[in-house]
Amino acid sequence: MANIDSNGSRVSLLRRLVYASMIGAVLFGGGYAVDKSGGIAYIYEAIGGRVDAEAPQAIYSREQMQADRKSYKAGLVGERPQMPVGANGFYQPPSEDAIPDSPYGDAVRRGRAIFTDTKINVQDHVGNEMACVNCHLDAGRRENSAPMWGAYGATLRTGVKPNR
Ligand code: HEC
Repeated sequence: MANIDSNGSRVSLLRRLVYASMIGAVLFGGGYAVDKSGGIAYIYEAIGGRVDAEAPQAIYSREQMQADRKSYKAGLVGERPQMPVGANGFYQPPSEDAIPDSPYGDAVRRGRAIFTDTKINVQDHVGNEMACVNCHLDAGRRENSAPMWGAYGATLRTGVKPNR
């Protein structure tokens, strides 16, 4: 099988394949070398990017926060309470077992049911099979999937305060 190149000579398919593989290998090798040289990482860091993942922060449990809050409230002693952070370095929402047995807890459970079984619990408002939890993973508790932590502040902004 042969073909005519732009100069009018015949070039075999095999030769074309060999040339193409050589060019491919050179491009791949070059790209690999550039990546390994660290030059790109250097430029990325120079403009403010972070190449290494952030080192995991120290865990600060919710229990620790509550203890610190108590003593701090009592007389501004001890550590100033912080936001609870897990081993993954993100905010740790309270566990589901912590939902209280109260009207407030009932409202939380109702909200969770709507969130996870949206079609069943608010039929009139949903036109498909989707549930909030399909996008807001782990019932809105998972980092990096539009978690509901931020919505708490937004709710306070609108003046609706949870009645505990
Ligand atoms: C198809 C995917 C999808 C579904 C289903 C979905 N959401 Fe979202 N939602 C998003 C995305 C993406 C964002 C983030 C938008 C942004 O940050 O600009 C968001 C943002 C939000 C926010 C704002 C969060 C914040 O931090 O301010 C709330 C509240 C929210 N969604 C509630 C819901 C509720 C309640 C349902 C179910 C009735 C729902 N979402 C269903 C994708 C979805």
